[in-house]
Amino acid sequence: MCGIVGYLGHKNAAEVIVDGLSKLEYRGYDSAGIAVVNEGKLEVRKFKGRLSVLAEDIEKNNLEGNLGIGHTRWATHGEPSDVNSHPHYNQDKTIAVVHNGIIENYMELKEELKSEGIEFKSETDTEVIAHLVDKYYKGNLLDAVYKAVSKLRGAYALGVICKDNEKELVAVRKDSPLIAGVGEGENFIASDIPALLKYTKKVYFLENEEVVHIKDNELKIYDSERNLVEKEIYDVKWDIEAASKGGYDSFMLKEINEQPEGVKNTLERRLDDDGNIVLEGIKISKEELEKINKIYIVACGTAYHAGLLGKNALEKYLKVPVISDIASEFRYNENFVDENSLVILVSQSGETADTLAVLRDVKEKGAKVLAITNVVGSSISREADEVFYTWAGPEIAVASTKAYTTQITSLYMIALNFALAKGTISEEYYKEIINKMKKLPEKIEEIISKQEKIKDIAKKIVSKEHVFFLGRGVDYSLAMEGSLKLKEVSYIHSEAFAAGELKHGTIALIEGETPVIAIATQEKLFEKMVSNMQEVKARGAFVISIAQQHNESVEKVSDEVIYIPNCDDMLVPILAVIPMQLLAYYVSTMKGLDVDKPRNLAKSVTVE
Ligand code: F6R
Repeated sequence: MCGIVGYLGHKNAAEVIVDGLSKLEYRGYDSAGIAVVNEGKLEVRKFKGRLSVLAEDIEKNNLEGNLGIGHTRWATHGEPSDVNSHPHYNQDKTIAVVHNGIIENYMELKEELKSEGIEFKSETDTEVIAHLVDKYYKGNLLDAVYKAVSKLRGAYALGVICKDNEKELVAVRKDSPLIAGVGEGENFIASDIPALLKYTKKVYFLENEEVVHIKDNELKIYDSERNLVEKEIYDVKWDIEAASKGGYDSFMLKEINEQPEGVKNTLERRLDDDGNIVLEGIKISKEELEKINKIYIVACGTAYHAGLLGKNALEKYLKVPVISDIASEFRYNENFVDENSLVILVSQSGETADTLAVLRDVKEKGAKVLAITNVVGSSISREADEVFYTWAGPEIAVASTKAYTTQITSLYMIALNFALAKGTISEEYYKEIINKMKKLPEKIEEIISKQEKIKDIAKKIVSKEHVFFLGRGVDYSLAMEGSLKLKEVSYIHSEAFAAGELKHGTIALIEGETPVIAIATQEKLFEKMVSNMQEVKARGAFVISIAQQHNESVEKVSDEVIYIPNCDDMLVPILAVIPMQLLAYYVSTMKGLDVDKPRNLAKSVTVE
C-alpha cells in the first residue's frame, strides 16, 4: 500500500525522499510524487508509473530545498494517473499533503468544499485533506492539521507541509502505519523503517491519533488533545544489509534462502539451557488455559494458511477445538467470541487492516488476544495482550516466504508450551518433538541445495495456463499456500483442492498434460493420496509429487517427484512448502516477471 517519506534537515530533501521511497517500493505502488518547499515556493512533481520516472525528472530538473514530503501511491480512489498521484495541494498551491489510508466521509466533505467554491483536480479522497487544511490555515500549520483531521473519518497517515515555512512538517496517523525518525540535525517521517535506515536507527512508533510536529531542529509528538507525549525512542536492531538483496537477484530468493536461519532464530532464541520453550512475555497461566474453551486463529492470505497448520497443532496437542478463519470474513460473521476465548492473530506486517479490525472487535468482547507478528512496534503488536515475535528479519518481497515458515514454527511452539502446561502432552513427547524441530534448519538447507531439480520442473509448467495443487489434511493447507505462491508471482491460474473432494466436481478440470502438484507427506493419508494421484494420472494429468524420501512408491503414480528429507508428520509442512516457493520463484523469473513486486499487489494491506 502507499508509502510515505518526509524530511526536514540539512540535506537535499528530494534526494533523501526518493531514496527512502525506493526502500518502500516493496509495499506496491503505481505512481510516485514529491513536494518540496524552497525559498517561499512549493514545488510538486508527480507521475504515474515507477519511482524511476520521478527520479529521472528530478535528475533533469534539479529540485532544491531541505523540506519535503514524498509518496508512492497504490490506487484506491481514481485510476493511477499523474493527477491522482500524491502529493495533493490546495487551490493556491501553498499546502501539500501525502496520505496513506482511506477517508470514508470524503464524498460529503468534497460536496461541502465544492459548495464553498473549491474546485477539485483529482478523483482522490486525499485531495479533500489539502483543501481542509487550507480552510483552517490561519498562519499555524499545526492548528490547521488538528482542525482538518477532526473532520475526517477513516484511516490515515498524513504528511503536510506549507510554503510559508520551510522548516516545518506536520504528520499524523490513525489506523495507517507511520513512524518518525531522529537523526543528527534532521528529522524524518516514514511508513516503515527501511526508508530511514540509511540515515538513522532511532525511531518513534506512533500511536493512533498522535501528531508529529517537526519544526526547525526539533521533533515533538502530541496526542489528540494536544498534550505533549514523552515517548521512548526505539533503537532499530537490524541494519541496511538485512533490508537489501545481499547478492541475490531478488528479495524473494534471498528470503527463501534465509529460512533456515529464520526458523532457527525463532526456535532457539526461546529455548532455555534445558531445551524448554520459554515464551518470554506471554503470561497465560494454567488456570487461564483451563478456562479457555474456544481458540480462534484469524489472519489473511499466507498468514491464514500458517494459521491452518496452527489449528492442527493446537487441536492435536491442547485438545481444544480451534476455529481458523480469514479476517475479512470473520469480522462480519457471527463468531461467538467471548471472555473465555483465546484469539491468535497472525500477521507478518502487524498492520493488515482486516486483522487489526478483528483484534479490536474481539478485545471488546473480552477475549484474550495473542499476536504472532514479525514487526516490532506494529499496530497489532501494540494493541494485542500478548505478542510472540517471529525472528524472520525484514520481509521485503511481496510474496511471503520466510514469514510463513517462522509463523508455523511459532504456532507449534505456542501449542507445545500450552499443552505441556495444561498436561495434555507428555514431557517425553515435548522433548522429542523439540529435538526434531531443532533439525529443521539443516533439512531446509538440504532442500534448497537441491533446487536444480525444481528449476527443471519449472520449465515444464512455465507455459501452462492452469496448475492444480492437491493434498489431504495438513497437505491440503500446504496446497493452498503452494497455489497462492504460484499464482501471485507467475500469474498462472492455480487452485488447491482437497484430494478427497476431486470426485465431487473438480476432477472435470483435469485433461491431458494438466500439471497437478500432489503433496503426499502424511504417513496416515499416504495411500489415500496415492489413489487420488492415480485418478488424475488416469485422466492425463502431469503429476509432480512432493513426498518424504522414504516413500519411493510415489514414483509409480508420478511424472516427477520432489523428495524432501524424512521428518515427523507434524513438522513436515515446514519442509514441504520450500519446493513450492522455489517453483513459484523460478516460473515467475522464467516468464521475465518482477518476482518481488507482482502486479496489483501490496506488501502491507492497510485498507479493507
Ligand atoms: C502472500 C502474502 C499475503 C499476506 C497477507 C497478510 O504471499 O504475503 O497473502 O500473507 O496479505 O499479510 P500480513 O501477514 O502482513 O498480515
